[in-house]
Amino acid sequence: MTPTVTVVAPAKINLDLRVVGRRPDGYHDLCTLFQSIQLHDTVTLTARRGPLTVRSRSPRVPRDQSNIAWHAAQELWTEVGRAGPPEGIAVRICKRIPMQGGLGGGSSDAAAVLRGLAVLWNVPRGRRALPALASRLGADVPFLLDGGLQRGTGRGDCLRRLRDLPPLWVVLAVPPFGVSTPDAFDWFDKGEPPVKTEPHPRWRGRLGTLSNDLELPVVARFPAIARATSRLRALGALHAAMTGSGSTVFGLFQAFEKAHLARQRLRMPGWRVGVTRTVGHVDFARLTGVVSAGNVNPGES
Ligand code: C5P
Repeated sequence: MTPTVTVVAPAKINLDLRVVGRRPDGYHDLCTLFQSIQLHDTVTLTARRGPLTVRSRSPRVPRDQSNIAWHAAQELWTEVGRAGPPEGIAVRICKRIPMQGGLGGGSSDAAAVLRGLAVLWNVPRGRRALPALASRLGADVPFLLDGGLQRGTGRGDCLRRLRDLPPLWVVLAVPPFGVSTPDAFDWFDKGEPPVKTEPHPRWRGRLGTLSNDLELPVVARFPAIARATSRLRALGALHAAMTGSGSTVFGLFQAFEKAHLARQRLRMPGWRVGVTRTVGHVDFARLTGVVSAGNVNPGES
């Protein structure tokens, strides 16, 4: 049987995001609360002769080295002591997470490639090396290796695991436009500095005190985002905001019926609206458990 692993790559939302400062490396220091959700891509890795390939039915997923999933394979290939471009693997990405949506889709695909290849290539102590590799790939990738609820500082890659929230239903409203992450940070830099606040120390009971510093500068360019958040609040969301650098808006609900009703009533022309739910640590580990059929040596098929 051809050695294959299948890995689930869940999306994230940022429950809270504060930009704390600018860094000499071009990034920004953040203080953010990441939360995993059930919406996911699926990444399949199959041992196959020849150079690494990346494929997807979604025409917008890059098939070349510009895909962060390709970089993930390259990082692990180098980590196991192999030179040159990675070989012997076919990566297939079944894309469900909207792109340029602030949901960490590409980053989660990269995290899934790291998790899957560590198993397929039987990398000794692979799991321990993964966070450092992940951090080189992108600021969100380390969180997406581990998921649940975590506080991210620094670029978002210095992580502290937090106690899971009670499960919540999440209405996701995806506009017909995306937002580029560097653009959102650039608009933030050019705008008025936000009033310095922090999440209320007892934010768990007060989800409404959470906020996102990137939301105002993005809303200034895309006012429909503010319409979606206020509609979701009017429809009973405990909290509604833009996730990450946008463009997706989320609303949190305790009861499925209310979330379902909000989904039906949101009515934003051209937007896609769906219901998903938060995923805690244990469920994240279960959801992302690698389905494996055999191991190979790197480059061997
Ligand atoms: O790390 P990632 O590739 O996801 O980041 C994309 C871009 O977002 C960075 O090149 C940078 O412009 C911006 N960014 C930032 N500060 C962060 C995270 C991302 O300025 N903490």
